Amino acid sequence: MYLTRVLRAATAGLVAATALAAAAHTAEAADTLGSAAAGQGRYFGTAVAANHLGESDYAATLDREFTSVTPENEMKWDATEPTRGGFTFTSADQIVSHAQGRGMDVRGHTLVWHSQLPSWVSTLAAADLRAAMNDHITQLMTHWKGEIHSWDVVNEAFQDGSSGARRSSPFQDKLGDGFIEEAFRTARAADPAAELCYNDYNTDGVNAKSDAVYAMVKDFKARGVPIDCVGFQSHFNSASPVPADYQANLQRFADLGVDVQITELDIEGSGTAQAASYGTVVKACLAVSRCTGITVWGVTDKYSWRSGGTPLLFDADYAAKPAYDAVLAALGGTGGGGGGGGGAACTATYSTDAQWNDGYNGKVTITAGDSAISGWTTTVTLTAPQQVTAVWNATATWDGSGNVMTVEPSWNGSLAAGASTSFGFTVAKNGSGAVPAVGTCAAS
Ligand code: G3I
Repeated sequence: MYLTRVLRAATAGLVAATALAAAAHTAEAADTLGSAAAGQGRYFGTAVAANHLGESDYAATLDREFTSVTPENEMKWDATEPTRGGFTFTSADQIVSHAQGRGMDVRGHTLVWHSQLPSWVSTLAAADLRAAMNDHITQLMTHWKGEIHSWDVVNEAFQDGSSGARRSSPFQDKLGDGFIEEAFRTARAADPAAELCYNDYNTDGVNAKSDAVYAMVKDFKARGVPIDCVGFQSHFNSASPVPADYQANLQRFADLGVDVQITELDIEGSGTAQAASYGTVVKACLAVSRCTGITVWGVTDKYSWRSGGTPLLFDADYAAKPAYDAVLAALGGTGGGGGGGGGAACTATYSTDAQWNDGYNGKVTITAGDSAISGWTTTVTLTAPQQVTAVWNATATWDGSGNVMTVEPSWNGSLAAGASTSFGFTVAKNGSGAVPAVGTCAAS
C-alpha cells in the first residue's frame, strides 16, 4: 500500500498504481469484496465510524472485506475544528491508524461542506471566511499529508432540481462561485499526492444537476484548475433508483480526464431486487476504466444513516446479504461473506426472439450456477421512448423513469445446478431501434 501511494505521488495518475494493486492481489483468492475488486484494479471501501471499531464483529467484517475506508463523520468541519483554530484529530486518527495497520487506503471526507459546519464559520465576513476556509483545508491536509488517497475537497455545492445553480451556503453566499476553485488550488498546494475530488448526490444520472457539475469540471480542466476526480454518492431507494444512464454518466465525466469514484453507495431494499441493483452499479463501474473504486456508506445495516431501509451489504447481525453475493459475483469473486453468503449464483443473457416494424419480443435466459437456486432476479433497461407492453414467465416492476424493469420469477424461481429458464417481453419501439440491456443476475 505504501508503494502504491509513492507511485501515485510520482506519476500523479492512477493507472500504474491500480495495475500494481491488482498484480499484488492476484495470489489471493477473490473471496472478499476487497480482493475481488483488487483483481479488477479497483478498491472496495466502506464508511467507518470510530466509535464502532471496538465491536469485534464490526472490526472483523471491516478488516476481512474492505480495502479502503472513509471516516463517516470524523473528518468533517464540526469534528475537526469546532472552534476557530482549535483542531481535534483524535477520532479521525483512530480510523486512519486502524486502516494503515491493515494496508487499507483512506478517503478524506470532507473539507468544505455547508453541513456539519460549526456556527462560528457562518458568522465570519468574507475576507475572514476565505482565510478560515484555506486554513482549514491546509491544516487537515497537512496533518494527514501522504496518508489520504483521495479527498472530497468540496461536497454538495450544487442545488437539487432543474436550476443547475450553486447551493446557498456561507461559502457560496460570501465568496461567490470562485470558492470551489480556490478550495481546490489550496488543497493541491497542501498535499500534491492526494487525488482531489468534487463529491455530490443526485448527480448519478444525466440531469440538470449533474450537467452543472459537468460544466464546472470541464471548465476546471480547460483552465488548469487542479481537479482529479468526481465522486458520485449513489444513495438509492425506490423513489430514486439506479438511473438507466448511470454508466453513461460516469463515462462522460471520465471522458473529461478525471477519475470517477462511487463514494457513498447504499440502496434501500432487500433480497434479490436489492441485489440486482447493487450488481448493476458494480458492473457500471467496471465498465468505465477510470472508475477507480467503490465505497459503500457503512459496514452493516445496524449502523446505517438510514438503517430502516436496510441499504447495505451486511445485515444487523453481520451476515452477508444477497446484495453482497451480487457485488462479489459482479467483481468476479467467488464464495466468501464470512459464512453468510451462499454459493447461489446465476447468469442472465439476452436475445431478440422476433422483430417487426415497430416492435420486438425480447427473451432473457436465466441459468443457475454450480448450485441449485430457489430464486433469481435481474433488470432489463430500455431506451426511451421504447415501452414494454407485455411480460410472460416472470413478474416485472418498473422504476420511476419507466425504463428499468426489475424482473423476478413467477413460477420458475427454482432451478437445479446449471439448469435454465427464460422469460419474455414485448416492446413497442416508438421509433427507437435500441437493444435492451440486461443487468446482473442475482440468485438466492
Ligand atoms: O454522535 C452524536 C451522538 O452523541 C448524539 O447523541 C446524537 C443525537 O442526535 O447525534 C450523534 O451525531 C450524529 C452523527 O451522524 C453520528 O451518528 C448526528 O446527529 C447526525 O447528524 C450525523 O449524521 C450524519 C450525516 O451525514 C450528517 O449530515 C450521518 O452519520 C452520515 O452518514 C451522513 O453522511 C452524509 C455524507 O457526509 C455526505 N453525503 C450524504 C451522507 C448521508 O446523509
